Amino acid sequence: MAKGTFITFEGPEGAGKTTVIKEIYRRLEQQGKHVVLTREPGGIRIAEKIRTIILDNDHEEMDGRTEALLYAAARRQHLTEKVVPALVTGAIVLCDRFVDSSLAYQGYARGLGIEEVLTINEFAIDGLMPDHTIYFDLSPEVGLARIASSGNREQNRLDNETLKFHQDVAEGYRLVQLKFPERIQPIDASGSVEEVTEIVWETVASFIS
Ligand code: TYD
Repeated sequence: MAKGTFITFEGPEGAGKTTVIKEIYRRLEQQGKHVVLTREPGGIRIAEKIRTIILDNDHEEMDGRTEALLYAAARRQHLTEKVVPALVTGAIVLCDRFVDSSLAYQGYARGLGIEEVLTINEFAIDGLMPDHTIYFDLSPEVGLARIASSGNREQNRLDNETLKFHQDVAEGYRLVQLKFPERIQPIDASGSVEEVTEIVWETVASFIS
């Protein structure tokens, strides 16, 4: 089977991930690379529908395990319908969030347990872990302040969580990095969008060279 490169991007809210990845995608395309840009939860029709259920501000009563299972379900469909077919053709797949988000948010911050959430995700992804993961390292305080000052971003159900929750997400990511040190590459996301873009660009280039 021809095999592309599966690169995921992780980090707290407000780290500039989405903006930076779009620019990385643009540059790779400009180089004539076969590249696919996608995101989680979502990326395809069924997963986008699951996304609206998960992130709906009105769904305050959602149980933590329900939330974890919905993310895993969306992940499964997105993987089989979009990521795997692209990888088979040799594409570079850039995915905004993947399994590490579930480990940090649901596993650690929601208190379900990193190992427990990894187990349900292993069922969903059936062995397809990313080749590389870039972690946008930024304190939750700075990330949340950026979101508050930018004003053009819609607040979803997870954005409405307390600062304590987002601090727990950061701690969860720290533990996940300790678990997968070869795969996860942290980068300093405290600079300007231009600065962070250059760091990420060099890192991605090192993965695909
Ligand atoms: P989104 O608006 O895409 O956030 P961001 O731009 O920060 O990526 O919303 C996705 C939200 O879902 C975000 O708060 C992180 C959360 N999430 C989880 O809790 N678990 C997961 O497995 C995934 C993929 C995302």
